[in-house]
Amino acid sequence: MVQKIRKAVLPVAGWGTRFLPATKAMPKEMFPIIDKPVIQFIVEELLEAGIENVIFVTGRHKRPIEHHFDINRDLENHLQEAGKEEALNSIRYISHMINPIYVRQKDQLGLGHAVLTSEPVVGAEPFIVSLGDIVLEKGSKTLCDMIDLFNRLGKSVIALFEVENREVSKYGIVKVKEIEEGVYIVEDLVEKPSPETAPSNLAIVGRYIFTPRIFDKLKETQPGKGGEIQLTDAMRLLLEEEVLYAYRIEGKVFDTGNPVDYLKTICEFALKREDIREELLPYLQETISRYTQLIDKP
Ligand code: UTP
Repeated sequence: MVQKIRKAVLPVAGWGTRFLPATKAMPKEMFPIIDKPVIQFIVEELLEAGIENVIFVTGRHKRPIEHHFDINRDLENHLQEAGKEEALNSIRYISHMINPIYVRQKDQLGLGHAVLTSEPVVGAEPFIVSLGDIVLEKGSKTLCDMIDLFNRLGKSVIALFEVENREVSKYGIVKVKEIEEGVYIVEDLVEKPSPETAPSNLAIVGRYIFTPRIFDKLKETQPGKGGEIQLTDAMRLLLEEEVLYAYRIEGKVFDTGNPVDYLKTICEFALKREDIREELLPYLQETISRYTQLIDKP
């Protein structure tokens, strides 16, 4: 009998150095995509997949995340009295639905170490890991499909997405064998290969379901670059004794962890919203033509 997945781990303790100085006192996971923080998109995706127990691995300067998921009675009362129903609903539903649990990573020793920090709370159960800065397109069925796969196959499942060949050196890339449309057995994992040596153009992308065996493997993993314990290294050890499956994401993946991709994410989400698109689109068109003229000038 396959154990039911009831918990998700969200590592949010990283330094966010690519966003300094903005991240000196504010977590990048709290940066807004228009009017909603990045981390709320990730929690909403979990709630849609039926997961309410969310274990945040937090660290220094991450308090705003805890405040965000608290119930704020004063603000709720204020909005109620002011008749601001829409604003009230926007803050109320998420904090009433989620069951947040906070675990502190004492030292930022890497993503693998952050996941290992959650072991006393996860226990001997399969669990989801969602990265705190990767947002999937609204309505993505990735997590639901991954949970179904886990229920069917009983082993760890990781999410992949297709990248351009010239981009493979930015990601962890897998060697795989396809067993059904969009579902694979992972044969090997390579961290940041060159386009010439990459075994595929399928990159590991921030959504994972692990059996609890990953914790043993994380304990065996030697620190790599910068003294960090890498999740990919533990996954490679896991591969030696368990089958590891992979699922190819349909639709877009938004990386909000660096300034350029964060801006692209905001543009994309803003243009999807009718109330914003009307003003933003002509502005963007005019700006693009102004800059194109500037760049084209000899
Ligand atoms: P990243 O490498 O994208 O985040 O880790 P970072 O280290 O915060 O960012 P940079 O590279 O310095 O700009 C992916 C996720 O893992 C978490 C991060 O918070 C992020 O959500 N993480 C990373 C931890 O929780 N602990 C760590 O020690 C490292």
